[in-house]
Amino acid sequence: MEVVICQDVEQAAERAADAITALFVAHPDAVLGVATGSSPLGIYAALGRRVADGQVSLALASAYMLDEYVGLAADHPERYRNVIEREFVARVDIDPSRVHGPDGLADDLPAACAAYEQSIAADGGIDLQILGIGTDGHIAFNEPGSSLASRTRIKTLTCQTRADNARFFGGNLDQVPTHCLTQGIGTIMDARHLLLVATGRAKAEAVHHLVEGPISAMWPATILQMHPYVTVLLDDAAASRLQLSSYFKETYDAKPAWQDL
Ligand code: F6R
Repeated sequence: MEVVICQDVEQAAERAADAITALFVAHPDAVLGVATGSSPLGIYAALGRRVADGQVSLALASAYMLDEYVGLAADHPERYRNVIEREFVARVDIDPSRVHGPDGLADDLPAACAAYEQSIAADGGIDLQILGIGTDGHIAFNEPGSSLASRTRIKTLTCQTRADNARFFGGNLDQVPTHCLTQGIGTIMDARHLLLVATGRAKAEAVHHLVEGPISAMWPATILQMHPYVTVLLDDAAASRLQLSSYFKETYDAKPAWQDL
């Protein structure tokens, strides 16, 4: 796990965009895992600028979403499919028909989850997965207590996550769905490169557990310690509870120029 403490949110987004740009320059048909929530928004904006100025193209890319609310109407602005269309697809040159998400409106939700797993596998797996982290340590919507080997499935959101996300629903907790479909932790662990972005003091405790805590289903993100290729991009506030923050800064400053993220 490489921990990079950035000057600010913008630098974290640019560094993430650097890694994604390098991937698609080398492999134009790579598969990108996309997250929703506020953490990746700067990355999508940075990618949009790079596509616009010709540094990179996602024309041959495929993308897979991490999760989706269950039961939000097809035209609801906070349905994750619509968020990804607005924040990611509309900014880059990806073919919208190659952007996939679990179907939270399916009649048969378990079958939709199984089909989603099959679709990811048929595309050769995810090359780079963008992740945020919840204040309770969730990745995607794998809440505390999730099986560390889980696959895409239906989950119940915690009150904490619904309260955190109420800001997207006009502050009205009752409007936040109670259920979601989410890639499992095992699904996420299959991606070849995991790139997690966390900024702000509210994430400091979860980041401390992610990087320095014991591996536990109580803080699901801690399983990333077992992945061979994880990049954690933080600002000072999100890194404020790390015992090793000085070491992480020294390590990044001393990194050889040829070594990318
Ligand atoms: C969203 C997702 C979640 C968020 C997490 C952090 O697709 O999978 O795990 O990444 O809830 O959300 P923000 O970035 O809004 O703080």
